[in-house]
Amino acid sequence: MLQDLSKITALAKRRGFIYPGSDIYGGLANTYDYGPAGIELLRNIRNIWWEEFVHGREDVVGLEASLISHQEIWKSSGHVGGFSDALIDCRNCKLRMRADHLIENYLEANSEKLTAESFGEKNDDSSKKYIGTQKVEGMAEKYMDEIIKFHTIPCPNCTENKGDQWTGVRKFNLLFPVNLGIIEGDQSLAYLRGETAQGMFVNFTNVTSSTRVKLPFGIAQLGKSFRNEITPGNSVFRTLEFEQGEIEYFFDPEVSNWEELYENWKRDMWSFITEKIGIKTENLRWREHSDEERSFYSRRTEDLEYKFPFGFKELWGLAYRTDYDLSQHEKGSGKELRMVDSQSGKKTLPHVIEPAVGVNRIFLMALCDAYHEDGDRVVLRLSPILAPYKVAVFPLLANKEGLVARAQDVYKRLKKKYHTAFDARGNIGKRYLSQDEIGTPFCVTVDFQTLEDNTITVRNRDTADQDRIDLDQLESYLHDKISAWKI
Ligand code: GAP
Repeated sequence: MLQDLSKITALAKRRGFIYPGSDIYGGLANTYDYGPAGIELLRNIRNIWWEEFVHGREDVVGLEASLISHQEIWKSSGHVGGFSDALIDCRNCKLRMRADHLIENYLEANSEKLTAESFGEKNDDSSKKYIGTQKVEGMAEKYMDEIIKFHTIPCPNCTENKGDQWTGVRKFNLLFPVNLGIIEGDQSLAYLRGETAQGMFVNFTNVTSSTRVKLPFGIAQLGKSFRNEITPGNSVFRTLEFEQGEIEYFFDPEVSNWEELYENWKRDMWSFITEKIGIKTENLRWREHSDEERSFYSRRTEDLEYKFPFGFKELWGLAYRTDYDLSQHEKGSGKELRMVDSQSGKKTLPHVIEPAVGVNRIFLMALCDAYHEDGDRVVLRLSPILAPYKVAVFPLLANKEGLVARAQDVYKRLKKKYHTAFDARGNIGKRYLSQDEIGTPFCVTVDFQTLEDNTITVRNRDTADQDRIDLDQLESYLHDKISAWKI
């Protein structure tokens, strides 16, 4: 299991997966750009997700809503009032971080749990529920201040602040406001969406009246969301701008059993991650939200977590959100958001189950899970459907025209079917090394024997074994190997 995220970030930059955002201007914290290898991996993840959850199903339709949206959407959804994090600053080194993360990381690293004493004078009925736990998310600021004082939690970034140089904990809203038009003010205020989910709720009637969907059915969306996060590192795990894949699965609770639907989604999420994305099961776990952590309207919430080098963290959330969202938007907009049964005339305000995943977190997980060191050789053992290039073609020698021309022919032929790389630089060993590091499963070499008998060698990334096969068999050979690939 990979312990050190810096190996991934170094590889990601060296091989064109991820670059720091605004790099030549000194970077912009928590923003990243995806390079030529990275964008291929990202697109493969998006495509597999869409294939699986939209095209592969009969009960889900797609949507792409605007990134900029009406401020009332975010008032009704509760984001304007309640979508906030608690932050704290180190007076010495100016580190700004989430207070709940500061406390949770400290408790976990020191194997400590919260006690009644942790809350000092503020210990009361509401703080009791946290005693014996290490979970702080959503806790009131006054408690966090006391805990930091009582446990004298030091700054993780400097040695000066031994727990006595923190500012007070204060809340700030995560939504990015945008001012439309040229006059700033409340009239022109809109928000960059903080999640894709609201697009599905506010378009509920548009979708039901323009398609032939029947309950139960889902609306799926894949797209950017924006949150003004405070993030201490961890690459693309938590960024300001990220991509979500969310499905709002609507059903009539008088007709469908929510527990059954919920379990079906759990099964589908698990098989997508393990079988389609090819992640090792020992690095995955489900974690159910406690009553304190769960939103008040949710009846059940679980996170599918992945064991990142910085610990088990949320990859994909699954929540039964009742009819909270649609009823909030009914109240906020004054529009009825019910489905009417054409036969019985029965009106239903559907309930919803929501699987919500971060595409960039799947990306980071895929890199971490695939990272493998074999002596000095670094290999990304990505599943072939995720790999940026499925195959690379080399002429054995770059200065032999006959070999280069033949290799170019092979490259052009393969390119029609698979995303293919061509490399004639350096020696063959270096070419293998660079393809291993971007996870290319097969490397094809055109050599002198090819010119004589029309055979080529195919080298397997994971075993480094080579097969010599007839060039005419190459496409079926690759097809069979790719289809048979297992973790
Ligand atoms: N509609 C529910 C919702 O948005 P969430 O847990 O806030 O729930 C869903 O987000 C998923 O989006 C998370 O499980 C995570 O994978 C991803 N995500 C959330 N915030 C993120 C961020 N700042 N950077 C990258 N991914 C993020």
